[in-house]
Amino acid sequence: MTSGIDALGFAIPNRYLSLTDLALARGVPASKYTEGIGTRAMAVPGPDDDTVTLATRAAADALARGKIDPSEIGMLVVGTETAVDHSKPVASFVQGLLGLPSGCRVFETKHACYGGTAGLFAALDWIDAGRSKGKKALVVCSDIARYGLRTPGEPTQGAGAVAFVVSESPRVLTIDGATTGRYSAHVFDFWRPLDRKDALVDGRYSVECYLDAVRGAFRSFRGESATSESRFSDRYAAMLYHVPYGKMARKAHSTLRAEDGDPSPDLTFDSLVAPSLVLPSLVGNIYTGSLYLALLGLLATDGERLAGKRVSLFSYGSGSCAELFEGVVMPGAEGSLADVMGIVEARERIDVATYEALFAERDARDSRDSREPVHVEAATVRMRDPRFLGSREGKRIYG
Ligand SMILES: CC(C)(COP(=O)(O)OP(=O)(O)OC[C@H]1O[C@@H](n2cnc3c(N)ncnc32)[C@H](O)[C@@H]1OP(=O)(O)O)[C@@H](O)C(=O)NCCC(=O)NCCS
Repeated sequence: MTSGIDALGFAIPNRYLSLTDLALARGVPASKYTEGIGTRAMAVPGPDDDTVTLATRAAADALARGKIDPSEIGMLVVGTETAVDHSKPVASFVQGLLGLPSGCRVFETKHACYGGTAGLFAALDWIDAGRSKGKKALVVCSDIARYGLRTPGEPTQGAGAVAFVVSESPRVLTIDGATTGRYSAHVFDFWRPLDRKDALVDGRYSVECYLDAVRGAFRSFRGESATSESRFSDRYAAMLYHVPYGKMARKAHSTLRAEDGDPSPDLTFDSLVAPSLVLPSLVGNIYTGSLYLALLGLLATDGERLAGKRVSLFSYGSGSCAELFEGVVMPGAEGSLADVMGIVEARERIDVATYEALFAERDARDSRDSREPVHVEAATVRMRDPRFLGSREGKRIYG
């Protein structure tokens, strides 16, 4: 089977904060954020953005870029760790807002930043098992990464969603779903109790847990791959990692290459990893979507060179679960992504005071009673670009 990603789309808030401005406000050298962390800007959501609006926009974008009709979708999965309801999945909102078929299997997956990858493999397994009957799966990774003002995690926030259509005849990336490396451990490196909006994180420990997972997943992957190559990772034209921030991907790459017997594990960073970090460095952490934002950015800027080449992808979710897998870039994958960097550059730059005010406004909107009618229940109003208006009786309302 050569199933994989058939179309990619994304959504980010239209405002960003420069991390140089944030560093000045927090009294730290800008180089700590831009070089030490490796992020230049982070996307800042407005009060009418939430995980649902970003997921819906990204899903609509993937369908439009792939010229795929909603009637072709037989499974919709949203991976998120910043869901809006303890019971009703984000996927259910997206199904209604986009008017996806009622015969569609719809659910949400959660395992911190690994949740979207869990959705991807559920989709691949469904297709590879021959159960999709010609239908495609729509997988969306959507999150608002939030650690709180003046916390160590503050410069590693962000917001956005990446969506991909998974099919048996992929036009973007074929994925070998049968050969993957997996690693899991019961750790508290990042968690968010049910009553909290802001994540709790043991930051430096989370870096160690991530790197343990790199080693574990790599060993598992190597064990599953029948290969005689002495340095296994030399087969890749690009190596992609989960990117909470760029420096983390650098550490991950160095760890993986060392594990693979490379005596100079940093030397391949510029050629194999750095090109995929440009887009994440302008958006910040988007949790479940971070790995796939790196893929989208890489294909948008370097897809032509990578046509027919093999790439590796490493997904990590705190708590923890990780998966290392590989795919082959399809010729023409970059075709529908020419405008991606332009969209990112066109965002509005805001100052620190505005960023802080938006933080408070989002909290207020979350608990605001809306006077608007509950459109989604009519199931006749389609919204490709919904805005969160508030709630009534706990029902979230979009307009
Ligand atoms: C990642 C995190 C722990 C860093 O927080 P911190 O303790 O304030 O930052 P550090 O002091 O470790 O500095 C970060 C890096 O900047 C470097 N640095 C510090 N000052 C610097 C300066 N002026 N110029 C350049 N680099 C600088 C540090 O040396 C360090 O690099 P290193 O990791 O290679 O040693 C924090 O942002 C966090 O908790 N983030 C959320 C959790 C997360 O994303 N985890 C990732 C795994 S999922």
